[in-house]
Amino acid sequence: MDRYVVIGNPISHSLSPEIHAAFASQGAEAIAYSTLLVPAGEFAAYARKFFDEGGKGANITLPFKVDAFQFAQETSPRARLAGAANFLANRGGVIAADNTDGLGLVADLTRNLGVQLRGARVLILGAGGAVRGVVAPLLEMAPARLVIANRTVAKAQELAMQFQTLGAIEAVPLAAIPAGGFDVVVNATSSSTRGEALDIPAHVIARGTLAYDMAYGPSARAFLDRAGAAGARTSDGLGMLVEQAAESFRLWHGRTPQTAPVLAALRRRFP
Ligand code: ATR
Repeated sequence: MDRYVVIGNPISHSLSPEIHAAFASQGAEAIAYSTLLVPAGEFAAYARKFFDEGGKGANITLPFKVDAFQFAQETSPRARLAGAANFLANRGGVIAADNTDGLGLVADLTRNLGVQLRGARVLILGAGGAVRGVVAPLLEMAPARLVIANRTVAKAQELAMQFQTLGAIEAVPLAAIPAGGFDVVVNATSSSTRGEALDIPAHVIARGTLAYDMAYGPSARAFLDRAGAAGARTSDGLGMLVEQAAESFRLWHGRTPQTAPVLAALRRRFP
């Protein structure tokens, strides 16, 4: 059986093994997909061992996406734009990196949530690793406006500079998010995971906004509950997780799996 893993730290609660098992059960792929806990600083050694022993592919989550990108011998344009990889494939002994996070977010917003990104006013909260992977795919959808707001504004400015050739992108501090309304507000900060408050002006989220948190489960609640109370439509990032997995599955196996039944089944557990 071909072996796949998701690498991270922590990793025990990852849903990726069951998502990939569900995709495989829709077709004829015989795969073993498990979790691999890697200690800080040990990514390359563990990944090398996994691939040397015949491992076919890996997904990579926090905090190793930059390590995975640097580990690979080949990198896709998407991974290079992000400077980070959530996907590695063993292609005849050559380890190739890709990044399917941005496509996962765009697919969830457009297909699952019915958002029209072309011409939309989009706000991203945060400027860390989670954002780096999604800026280029979002700009590709030609939004009317893409604003990156971050507590440390220099990090938002750095991202805006890096991606300026791909489309109009603005960088602002969290406290100075422009008024005028956003169609989509994506929370990509780690504030709630850290149990901290996210200090944004009240005008940011209004009726008619889709408030989206890249996290799912309890970590997404603080932002989404507040947005819901302000009259916004809300979504956690469970669909993004399933869609990025589907793109990983397609890259490995050459078949696009059905995401809707897998997402619906997970949704019953993460309402
Ligand atoms: P990740 O890879 O998950 O994005 P990261 O690179 O550590 O992790 O980035 C975390 C993001 O959450 C950053 O944008 C961070 O803001 P700073 O750049 O100012 O640190 C943001 N963040 C974390 N805690 C926050 C809080 N309490 N309020 C606002 N932003 C927060």
